Amino acid sequence: MNDAARIRAPLNRTITLTERERAAYIRELLTLSRPVSLDEVCDRIVRQDALVALTHLPNECADLAIVDPPYNKSKQFNEDCFSKTSAEEYAAWADSWLRLLADKMKPTASIYICSEWQSSATIQNAATRHFNVRNRITWERDKGRGAKRNWKNCAEDIWFCTKSEDFTFNVDAVKLSRRVLAPYRERDGAPKDWQETDRGNFRLTHPSNLWTDITVPFWSMPENTDHPTQKPEKLIAKLMLASSRPGDVVLDPFAGSGTTAVVAKKTGRRFIAIEMDELYCCLAQKRLDKAKTDGAIQGYADGVFWERNTLSAQKQTSKRHPRESRGDGQTALFLAQQSSDRV
Ligand SMILES: C[S@@+](CC[C@H](N)C(=O)[O-])C[C@H]1O[C@@H](n2cnc3c(N)ncnc32)[C@H](O)[C@@H]1O
Repeated sequence: MNDAARIRAPLNRTITLTERERAAYIRELLTLSRPVSLDEVCDRIVRQDALVALTHLPNECADLAIVDPPYNKSKQFNEDCFSKTSAEEYAAWADSWLRLLADKMKPTASIYICSEWQSSATIQNAATRHFNVRNRITWERDKGRGAKRNWKNCAEDIWFCTKSEDFTFNVDAVKLSRRVLAPYRERDGAPKDWQETDRGNFRLTHPSNLWTDITVPFWSMPENTDHPTQKPEKLIAKLMLASSRPGDVVLDPFAGSGTTAVVAKKTGRRFIAIEMDELYCCLAQKRLDKAKTDGAIQGYADGVFWERNTLSAQKQTSKRHPRESRGDGQTALFLAQQSSDRV
């Protein structure tokens, strides 16, 4: 059945393709058969096996890699099925692309690798052979089936690695605005390190390695596609804003529906995206088209990440308080709430 012909609920915003769109987008895809320059491949979707395409990229061309490989479980990716294998075989497979990636990353580059509990240790070990492993981010997936004889799995890991000790980390670009549960005040009545707004009290907090503010794309979100393991734009935006600068090159060898490419476009980075499935490549192209006119990233507004279920607060005008003018990082929150008119 044609993807677009599937019957969906009226408010369903899932991005689909008509046969005509798919035919047009196929023409925009690249397949590499020789070594290419950065200009030839930048801001393009490469439809190919990553283990082949990576060999044709220039060495040391990327500032950041966001790697979301198939996890070690049997999963259908459109026409291709990734089959669960032994930890040893999965480790050998991971090593084959990590080795290639290491050559393609600049000496100052960072690499993030996604995993879940069954493959996390394998990925950590494999990454250690090629990069400096600096941290593990665990993020809460608010979606998934309950298990009858086990704990429901609600978490995924992302391994943060760098190629050297010299790397970009913009902590101020990834602060989180959280609701204040205990609104302590100074003696003069002023809020102590938090802001009073029409819709609640918020504090700008340092990002930790435990993320509970992420929503997995679902049918009413404008970024949603039928890709079975699509990552949220907000999740990728955090990685990208922390570990790259505008104009940097972000490499994604398992691009799926193109989330990394789309976030790169929305945040002023360049990208190289590799994905072997043609349908997913075309969905990525369509999302990139849409990003030309809609640069919003759900959950990120005016330089601040927001907790789940704070959309109305994001749109609020803050009640200004004299302390806002003291010039610390909290001022960004006031400005965000003053000027926010986006989702
Ligand atoms: C976990 S998904 C990535 C999802 C992506 N982050 C997104 O937001 O849509 C992994 C993707 O890798 C693709 N893939 C698997 N093996 C591949 C290979 N050898 N080369 C390129 N792509 C591959 C699959 O088709 C699948 O779309």
